[in-house]
Amino acid sequence: MNSNKNTHCQIRQTICFLLFITLFFFSCKNTEKENPYTLMKIPELNQQDLAEGFQLLQNNCFSCHNPNATEETKAGPTMAAIKNQYMKSHPSQEEFVRDYLIFLNNPSEENSKMPEAITRFNLMPKMSLNDEQILKVAMYLYSSEIENPNWFEKQYDIEKQKYQSNTSISPIETGQEIALKTKGVLGKNLLEALNAKGTENALSFCSTRAIPLTDSMAIALHARIKRVSDKNRNPENKANEAELAYIESTKMAIARGDKPKPQLTTLDEVQIGYYPIMTNKMCLQCHGQVEADISSSTLSKINSLYPDDLATGYSSDELRGIWVVEMDKK
Ligand code: HEC
Ligand code: HEC
Repeated sequence: MNSNKNTHCQIRQTICFLLFITLFFFSCKNTEKENPYTLMKIPELNQQDLAEGFQLLQNNCFSCHNPNATEETKAGPTMAAIKNQYMKSHPSQEEFVRDYLIFLNNPSEENSKMPEAITRFNLMPKMSLNDEQILKVAMYLYSSEIENPNWFEKQYDIEKQKYQSNTSISPIETGQEIALKTKGVLGKNLLEALNAKGTENALSFCSTRAIPLTDSMAIALHARIKRVSDKNRNPENKANEAELAYIESTKMAIARGDKPKPQLTTLDEVQIGYYPIMTNKMCLQCHGQVEADISSSTLSKINSLYPDDLATGYSSDELRGIWVVEMDKK
């Protein structure tokens, strides 16, 4: 236990350091890019941390980076292809982790090492992992042999067991996992539709209603999930009073410069988790400024499908709405 705490502490310190390096890296990008930094050694992660990295990958990344996808069903490059590309420019573990932190915290063309993948698949949406989680994911990828064929089948059961035997996840984290998985599936459908059909005809893919909760944990907990907003597009996604209160306080936190935090409410029979949904550049073609971001053909389609639409006028990094995950108490 104690050594576990120590590792966590070390992880935090390293992340702070890496972030410092990141800022430094950004502030003198042009001149310093070629110059490798003396990066701090990353703490030895224990088996549990790595298994958690695998679990995070599985929950948040494989919907688009599916190891078993074929050329036709792919929604993004495989993790092996990405690792290969990242290893090319930066063979050291510290730099590998740093580059994952940079890209995952701010997916953009500027931070991309695979611009051709953006052209083919569209820019990856920002996932809501914190730095410690990104570190674990990156370290798992770095230290495992994902480039081997059959890696996934072989590792899957082993890692899953390790993870489950060692962890008891809190209800707020359980709800978060369910929300992230749903988000992953939704994001995948949306990206595929945008690529295949363009914005106007992808509109129907931003609906969550078609997504069945197939995740075993969600089924076991009889979880229900919905997305609501204070500025809703679909009248059925209007936030109720309790949800509005959370939305308002989260907006205030964001305005103060704080990171938006999830919230768990415990009632007699159920627990309800609220999780923020932030905008990124990809969303603006359907939720941005009316003339500047949303084309007139898309706008007229939105207006005909949703005559009472309130969900335009957003910029990047704003609170677009929230996931509401309702779980039965065990
Ligand atoms: C909704 C689909 C989707 C999900 C979910 C997703 N990705 Fe991606 N990812 C993409 C697409 C599409 C690309 C290729 C375009 C790009 O680079 O932005 C990509 C590219 C990447 C790249 C290469 C970036 C570059 O251009 O240099 C990394 C690294 C990456 N993903 C990591 C992850 C990790 C780690 C997760 C899970 C925490 C994840 N992705 C979840 C769609 C997704
Ligand atoms: C192709 C157009 C399109 C894109 C791109 C898009 N949306 Fe939507 N969005 C819609 C439509 C249409 C709805 C209404 C869905 C429904 O009927 O449930 C919607 C609904 C939502 C809702 C539910 C609340 C409401 O207003 O009804 C949220 C939250 C949301 N979108 C967030 C996002 C975020 C975040 C992104 C970017 C990551 C995004 N959307 C990208 C078209 C889009």
